[in-house]
Amino acid sequence: MSAPLIQLFNVCQRYSGRTVLCVDRLSIEPGSIVGLAGPNGSGKSTLLRMLAFLEAPASGTLTFMGEPVSIKPNGVHRHVTLLVQEPYLLKRSVHANVSYGLKVRGEENVTDRVNHALEMVGLDPDKFSQRQWYELSGGEAQRVALAARLVLKPKALLMDEPTASLDGQSATLIRQAALAARKEYGASLVIASHDMAWLSAVSDHIVHLEHGEITDIK
Ligand SMILES: Nc1ncnc2c1ncn2[C@@H]1O[C@H](COP(=O)(O)OP(=O)(O)OP(=O)(O)O)[C@@H](O)[C@H]1O
Ligand SMILES: [Mg+2]
Repeated sequence: MSAPLIQLFNVCQRYSGRTVLCVDRLSIEPGSIVGLAGPNGSGKSTLLRMLAFLEAPASGTLTFMGEPVSIKPNGVHRHVTLLVQEPYLLKRSVHANVSYGLKVRGEENVTDRVNHALEMVGLDPDKFSQRQWYELSGGEAQRVALAARLVLKPKALLMDEPTASLDGQSATLIRQAALAARKEYGASLVIASHDMAWLSAVSDHIVHLEHGEITDIK
């Protein structure tokens, strides 16, 4: 068996002196899809920010591919990306949004890769590439934001309530994109959601949080 992609050991987070999350141990295996469930305020978003190395924990250790990682940029961050609930799009075209990260990295075959990422999220490149950000529905904008991450082929794709304001069809497209990311390039996914039916359909197992602690893994 290959080593875990991300591990947490005795990780706690505190805000203003109040402990909001304490996880003794959690491993994200390569190519696994982990659901995060729990009531409002149980710590799902906080845990996702830890897993994305966006925030340093108040205490404890995180590892990425077996190496301890701090919040400081050290090359890990490009392999791990978090899609927040209301993602920000550049005030530009769909193509410009999805190609942005590739161009920053100086990569080639940008248009082919952008078009493929759009297809992964169920957006026809011929129809959508040249649309402006204001010409998208909420569900389309969410999928453009997802395509902008998929195009970079992260090893870990973390999603915070990716279907919160979407209809069933868009939610299905997000699920298919998540499964395609795993199948095509072995991505691990960690997804927080209140939609238990949707989460169960996409996840290998579900981590339940209550009051900042893992109460169950199924
Ligand atoms: N930046 C912050 N400063 C202070 N407290 C915070 C901060 N972020 C989160 N919290 C607190 O941490 C706890 C966990 O919040 P978190 O956002 O992780 O929960 P959640 O499970 O994502 O909830 P929801 O389902 O509502 O999105 C809550 O009590 C929240 O008020
Ligand atoms: Mg949240």
